[in-house]
Amino acid sequence: MITQQTLIIGANSGIAIAIAKRMESTNNTGLILISRDLSAYTDRVDEDINKILVENYQLQSIEMAINQLSQCHQAPITQVYICHGVLHDQHIQPEKRLEDFNAESFQEVMTINALTPMLWLQKLTPYLTSPTPCKIVVFSARVGSISDNHLGGWYSYRASKAALNMMLRTATIELARRAKNIKIIAFHPGTTDTPLSKPFQKNVPANKLFTSDFVAQQLLQIVEESVIDGELSYLDWQGEAINW
Ligand SMILES: NC(=O)c1ccc[n+]([C@@H]2O[C@H](COP(=O)([O-])OP(=O)(O)OC[C@H]3O[C@@H](n4cnc5c(N)ncnc54)[C@H](OP(=O)(O)O)[C@@H]3O)[C@@H](O)[C@H]2O)c1
Repeated sequence: MITQQTLIIGANSGIAIAIAKRMESTNNTGLILISRDLSAYTDRVDEDINKILVENYQLQSIEMAINQLSQCHQAPITQVYICHGVLHDQHIQPEKRLEDFNAESFQEVMTINALTPMLWLQKLTPYLTSPTPCKIVVFSARVGSISDNHLGGWYSYRASKAALNMMLRTATIELARRAKNIKIIAFHPGTTDTPLSKPFQKNVPANKLFTSDFVAQQLLQIVEESVIDGELSYLDWQGEAINW
C-alpha cells in the first residue's frame, strides 16, 4: 500500500524520466506523472502510477489536470518536481548578441520557463498545504544567477530563470506564513545530456556533461536531506548553494 506520492510535472523531460525511473525502487511511494507526451512510460502500467496527459500548459489545461490530480489523492503528495524548460526549439535559438533578441521568442521562453511553473505552484498549493511535509523542486539554472553572469548572451533564457527565481523567493516568503509544511528548491542540474542541451554540448568537457540518471540520483539525495525551513534554496547538483 502506498503511503505517499511523488508528482512529476513536465514528465517527458530527460531528467524527469530519470527521476521517475529511480522512484520505482522507492517503497510505498506512488507516482503521478503530468506531461504532453507520456510515451516514455507506456510500459509502466503499475497501479501505483497515475498518468495525466495534458494538451498544453495553458491555464485551462492546468486546471483540468489539477482536477484529475485531486482524484488520485490516495496518499499525500510529499515531493513535487516541476521540470519545464526551453532553451531552443523550432522557432527559438538562445541569443548570442543584442541583434538576435526577438520579442516573440522572449515571450515564449518566459511563458514556458517562468509563468508555467508559477501557475502550477499557485494551483497546487491548496492540495499541498497540510501537516505532511512536502518538498517542491522547480528546475531553474545557474545562468539565472545575476551575480554569476560573466559570459553574457542567452538573454531570454537567463531572464526567464532569474524571473523564476524571484517568483519562487516571493512565494516562499508567503508560504512560510500560510503553508509551513512546504519547502521549495530552485535546482540547477548542471549540463545534462538531454534534448535541451544537445546543440550546446560540443565544448563541454566529458566529465562536466552529466547523464540524467546521475543528476536524478544527486537530486533525490538533496531532496531527502533538505529540511522544511521556510527558505528558498537555490542549489546545484552537488547540493551547493548558488549566489543569486
Ligand atoms: N539539460 C541541461 O543541461 C540543463 C541545464 C540547466 C538547467 N536545466 C533545466 O532542467 C529542466 C529540465 O530540462 P531537461 O534537460 O530535462 O529538458 P528536456 O528533456 O528538453 O525537457 C523539456 C521540459 O520542458 C517542457 N516543455 C517543453 N516545451 C514546453 C512548452 N512549450 N510548454 C511547457 N513546457 C514545455 C517539457 O514538458 P513535457 O513533459 O510536456 O514535454 C519537459 O518537461 C529545465 O527547466 C531546464 O531549463 C537543464
